[in-house]
Amino acid sequence: MAAAAVDYGIDAPLVARGWFGRAAWSLGVGLAFWFMNRQEYPGPAGRMLAVLTLIALACAGIAWFKIHSSRDGKLRLREQLLDQLALKGDEKVLDIGCGRGLLAIGAAKRLKTGKVTGIDVWNPQDLSGNSADAAKENAKAEGVADRVRFESGDARKLVFPDNNFDAVISANALHTLADDGEREQALREGLRVLKPEGRLVIFDTAETGYYAEVLRAADAKDVTLSPWSFLWCQPSRSVTARK
Ligand SMILES: C[S@@+](CC[C@H](N)C(=O)[O-])C[C@H]1O[C@@H](n2cnc3c(N)ncnc32)[C@H](O)[C@@H]1O
Repeated sequence: MAAAAVDYGIDAPLVARGWFGRAAWSLGVGLAFWFMNRQEYPGPAGRMLAVLTLIALACAGIAWFKIHSSRDGKLRLREQLLDQLALKGDEKVLDIGCGRGLLAIGAAKRLKTGKVTGIDVWNPQDLSGNSADAAKENAKAEGVADRVRFESGDARKLVFPDNNFDAVISANALHTLADDGEREQALREGLRVLKPEGRLVIFDTAETGYYAEVLRAADAKDVTLSPWSFLWCQPSRSVTARK
């Protein structure tokens, strides 16, 4: 029997769909305008169609880039983020806002005796097909189901004891919280459950400068911001720190 395909979902699927919708509308309006005016005003009708077609192509390009970032860009990104953890193989790792398991499964593939826990509230608007079952299917398909588990949990109030994990990771999740107060709560929770000298890697498309400020204020060590990269048509970077 063929192995199930791994699918880590599309981030903010409604946003990508919105850009495809704008492309379709622009092209549709251009074609309708041209069709109604092509005999009486061929020049202006043709120019209008050309402009609206360019706008449609730009919107479709943004939608394509957003999907490409989710399908391809973030797979490469995950390896770069996990490299920063320099895992030895026996660690306990927590992925906050794990979605369909992108980082959690990537980390599990680097472990021998260690274990990864992924927690999420599984919001379907943040990620297509978002569910614990989808993450478990991906873990099975990637051959790491024995090294990773997925639990419902809220980044703002983690259920784990203090000093519990060797590494805490999170990708593109904390910006979805309601405000900076909630983001600070989540960052402080991430630090709380980290063991002394444990490593934290948070990647996001926004607010990363604020994350660094919060972590410094919470006495995290070696707080470092990576250079900017461009995914989902948005400037993105990671913050790394030690407890
Ligand atoms: C854009 S998705 C990214 C998922 C995954 N990290 C990835 O890179 O594929 C953001 C995730 O954050 C989760 N999330 C939102 N609010 C959360 C909260 N309060 N606690 C835990 N996870 C949350 C969403 O359900 C979603 O799975």
